[in-house]
Amino acid sequence: MKFFIDTANLDQIREAQALGVLDGVTTNPSLMAKEGITGKENIINHYKAICEIVDGDVSAEVIATDFEGIVEEGEALAKLHPQIVVKVPMIREGVKALKYFSTKGIKTNCTLVFSAGQALLAAKAGATYVSPFIGRLDDISTDGLGLIQEIRLVYDNYGFDTQILAASIRHTMHIMDCAKIGADVMTGPLSAIDGLLKHPLTDIGLEKFLADYKKGN
Ligand code: G3P
Repeated sequence: MKFFIDTANLDQIREAQALGVLDGVTTNPSLMAKEGITGKENIINHYKAICEIVDGDVSAEVIATDFEGIVEEGEALAKLHPQIVVKVPMIREGVKALKYFSTKGIKTNCTLVFSAGQALLAAKAGATYVSPFIGRLDDISTDGLGLIQEIRLVYDNYGFDTQILAASIRHTMHIMDCAKIGADVMTGPLSAIDGLLKHPLTDIGLEKFLADYKKGN
């Protein structure tokens, strides 16, 4: 399972990279705005800065919503750095652009996916990643994890290569549930990754080992 961090915060990206388990980064316009990164040039420079920190894929989202605009923007983003993955919204024009990018060998992440039907379409169009937003479904009392399960089933039925990137992960249990279902990738906040580390019995056990070591030395 690949671990992506879902943030535009460079300190958090560095911290996750330092842990040695980071496979990539996802961002979106809201995450950029949260860090005060606005304006085309600043956003582009920020993508480049992220690519310098991590080794894996870095999703960069297009703003255009028409086919020509998505293609123009996506091609420019892909040229920024070999690690850039063009993030395209699940809309009609986006599906056409996914197909175009796949024929050009440009990696894509189809975002804002909320149904297995949308995920099927993204896979048919040759998306590299599909991003179902599980937290946002949970927010409206719909089963986000159930969607990951459905997409896994559909993709396995036909051997689609598109990777399921479980997005809108809100906490550590989301990561574990996605791992059990077989999501290929999860993208979440650093806090959710950190949660995997913690167990009180580890802390108690280590304290005892260190205390016993001191007794004999
Ligand atoms: O990057 C897209 C997705 O992960 C957004 O998450 O928490 O805004 O629903 P959230």
